[in-house]
Amino acid sequence: MSTARSTTPWLAELRALLGPGGYLDQPDELEPFLGDWRHLYRGSTPMVALPATTAEVAGVVRVCAEHRVPIVPHGGNTSYCGGATPRESGVELVLGLRRLNRIRELDVDNYSVTAEAGCVLARLQAASEEAGRYFPMSLGSEGSCTIGGNLSTNAGGTAVLRYGMMRDLVLGLEVVLPDGRVLDQLRSLRKDNTGYDLKQLFIGAEGSLGVITAACLKLFPRPAAYATAIAGLRSVADAVTLLGRLRDAVGDAVVTFELIPAGAMELVARHVEAVQLPFEAAPPCSVLMELALPAPDSDLATRLEALLEQALLSGLLTDAVIADSLARRDNLWKLRESIPEAQTREGASLKHDISLPTSALPGFMTDAAPLVDSIIPGARLIAYGHLGDGNLHFNVSPPVGMEATAFLERGPALKRAVHDLVASRGGSFSAEHGIGRLKVGELERYENPVALSLMRQLKQSLDPLGIMNPGKVLA
Ligand code: MLT
Ligand code: ZN
Repeated sequence: MSTARSTTPWLAELRALLGPGGYLDQPDELEPFLGDWRHLYRGSTPMVALPATTAEVAGVVRVCAEHRVPIVPHGGNTSYCGGATPRESGVELVLGLRRLNRIRELDVDNYSVTAEAGCVLARLQAASEEAGRYFPMSLGSEGSCTIGGNLSTNAGGTAVLRYGMMRDLVLGLEVVLPDGRVLDQLRSLRKDNTGYDLKQLFIGAEGSLGVITAACLKLFPRPAAYATAIAGLRSVADAVTLLGRLRDAVGDAVVTFELIPAGAMELVARHVEAVQLPFEAAPPCSVLMELALPAPDSDLATRLEALLEQALLSGLLTDAVIADSLARRDNLWKLRESIPEAQTREGASLKHDISLPTSALPGFMTDAAPLVDSIIPGARLIAYGHLGDGNLHFNVSPPVGMEATAFLERGPALKRAVHDLVASRGGSFSAEHGIGRLKVGELERYENPVALSLMRQLKQSLDPLGIMNPGKVLA
């Protein structure tokens, strides 16, 4: 790897372009950019460029295009698939977007906000809230993930059922193309049929077609009434039935419907302090549900309670607890949001980020559980998450007492079996965490060949030099 103060021409050009404070090139400064959050990859880079304006990003990309230097865009570094980590060659530039972080405009009457890529999600949520509006993207990592990363991975989270994924929240986009031109489609229109919808190409592309520098995003009325509850059920099939009943009764007020299996409750109980478990004995499945309405509505909780009571009486539920205070609501959310941390503390795990039509989830789970057991006898299946939109984090912890290495060796066989089953049911092996570097082979294996060839054509035509995040998304 070339080290600090290298005389490589492109490094010298970038230093001159960005000036002091506009880049990092000392080993200790580079360190945080070399590995991904899950510790799957560790790469190398001679420099992290930190442009503060779109013009500077364009300048950096032009220098890189001229010298054929690969660029790895980098936001809050919370990727699950290694999309923001440089590879091992030591010749890739990391393009950090964190200084490009202004909220350019918040249009209250248009219910829209224009923010730069490096803006942290929680900051955007807070600014919207202060203006009496609501930005609904909600993720465990919202305190550190950035808008650019959310867009580049098409993030999901816990409110997709009501508000959709990141791509559904976008009105306009600004992108620096691989040749340094700026594609300015930063419109704030809800209706705009002027030709192809180019912005959608860059959302979920993980920086492989260009660098997203800013976006105009939809805002919503701020919820004023919440009702939150957790219900115990016997099966995923019963949970899907409950979701239907809820939606029939209160429609779009259902924002969150998250599955918490017994195994996840046990992990949280073991590893996360200060979370109170809602039930004495964890039922096979629990569902955390939240309803929200923009107008104050003291009735909402009463309606939810009545619905759950009815479901209890009809035998659909085995138990239910309504959060009757803010502290109890926070506790239920903490229970849900602590699952990934609890599973990490438990030790090794094998993760799959799958989605299916919600109606297909019960059948899938019935077949998938014995499949897991046939590949790793005694393994603990912890399939949790966004049941309301069909996305489960189908994660597996080792049988108690099994060595991590022996367990992880079974990972490829398990992945193949799980993804094959998902594919056979019309599902996706990449629901909300992206492809990154981790799932490039899976995309090749499962994507429709016509779609894959179109993706390659698009990549070739937009990035003929192949400098935009090479090795991510496409091989
Ligand atoms: C979640 O929903 O908690 C995350 O997307 C997935 C995870 O951390 O496993
Ligand atoms: Zn998730």
